[in-house]
Amino acid sequence: MTDPKLFIEANKERFLDELFSLLRIPSISADPAYNSDVAKCAEHIAEHMKSLGLDAVEIFPTKGHPIVYGECLVDPDLPTVLVYGHYDVQPADPIDLWDNDPFEPVIKTTKIHTEGAIFARGACDDKGQMFMHLKAFEIMKSNGEIPCNIKFMIEGEEEVGSSNLEPFVANHKEKLACDTILISDTGMISNTTPSITTGLRGLSYVEVEVTGPNRDLHSGLYGGAVANPLNVLAKMVASLHDDHGKIMVEGFYDGVEIVSTEERALMAKAPFNQGEFKESIGIGDVWGEEGYSTPERTSIRPTLDVNGMWGGYIGEGAKTVIPSKAYAKISMRLVPGQNPEAITEKFIKHFTAIAPASVKIKVTPHHGGLPYVTHTTNPAYQAASKAYETTFGKAALPVRSGGSIPIVALFEQQLGAKSILMGFGLDSDAIHSPNEHYGVFNFFKGIETIPYFYENYAKQK
Ligand code: BES
Ligand code: MN
Ligand code: MN
Repeated sequence: MTDPKLFIEANKERFLDELFSLLRIPSISADPAYNSDVAKCAEHIAEHMKSLGLDAVEIFPTKGHPIVYGECLVDPDLPTVLVYGHYDVQPADPIDLWDNDPFEPVIKTTKIHTEGAIFARGACDDKGQMFMHLKAFEIMKSNGEIPCNIKFMIEGEEEVGSSNLEPFVANHKEKLACDTILISDTGMISNTTPSITTGLRGLSYVEVEVTGPNRDLHSGLYGGAVANPLNVLAKMVASLHDDHGKIMVEGFYDGVEIVSTEERALMAKAPFNQGEFKESIGIGDVWGEEGYSTPERTSIRPTLDVNGMWGGYIGEGAKTVIPSKAYAKISMRLVPGQNPEAITEKFIKHFTAIAPASVKIKVTPHHGGLPYVTHTTNPAYQAASKAYETTFGKAALPVRSGGSIPIVALFEQQLGAKSILMGFGLDSDAIHSPNEHYGVFNFFKGIETIPYFYENYAKQK
């Protein structure tokens, strides 16, 4: 195979310019105010796919945001790879905390990205990573070396739960038929320690509403005699963990896969510096479930976290009031053996049971997703592993991630194919946060590594 580096060297500036054009479109899926930008982004990708010579390029409308599809089928005897990615991004707020306009990308160096990083919303999650696949295709096409049939499916609703992708996949099984799915929407350990993601956590997400009195009350006239929904909610939330970091929801750990001592020993080999970890996020100490290391707590163990909590008076100055209602959004990250629907049910049952008679409880479930694991014996993993060896000069470590891409488990159910997660982001890239960025090194290294994956996979199948 021709070394992809040759083409990359000759086209570096253009590749970056093209990514910048994509990043300038504020395709925020969660906010209806940006619907036309999301649509514009889908158009932009479809046009780009056509310009690369992909066939059957089509924008599939959904009840929500559209899905972009394109393919290059070279030979029915060759394996077929379905590339999945998302072009939607998280909202940019809090906007004041950005050092540049989130939709006007700039390149700046950082302590970690000494060759520069692209700062923009979606730079890493997932436009920058998704775009690597289109550029890798362009390289293979111009070199006349396309080792596999390739299908691209790029969606616009990953950040809001992929609810319309689910029926799309179920209704287009033939069109999406493949031997494996290739995704770059995760991270790796560091630029000198590549890793391949072998697991994703699942997700159960609920919103709770605690209602006390039928109206906001004067906290002097009523205070002391009426349970305050915010106080009650705070106490209920605090009771969801015991002093050992265990989650107290009845039956929460039922069926949780016990990771073997051997696998835990293997995981412990991945470099991790607790001091640097604490410093990088500015915390005095770590916290979590007793008996597990920090990397284990964020990968092989389930969690429960409040994402937001509100109620009562939060405006300027002071207002003396006992609120009628209090709210919280709670996410639970799940591991193999747990099912999002079952966990949601257990949560509702538990939360209702622990509520005092002074309040009423309403729990609304939001989107969820199943956890996912793949094994290093998977031929696609092997192909990826060899590709990293070629381009990084060292083997990639298998690592389970704490994040979630709920559609991955669904692909396995609907298409009967495993996903291989070749992510090139770093945890420090601030995805979903202000000043999200993606290393220039990572962008080009990804583009360079992907063609080797196809070459190895074609040989291996
Ligand atoms: N790309 C991320 C998930 C991710 C990031 C996995 C880094 C592993 C490493 C994805 O876009 C995401 O943000 N997923 C959401 C879930 C979704 C249902 C909103 C998440 O993990 O919170
Ligand atoms: Mn993503
Ligand atoms: Mn995301």
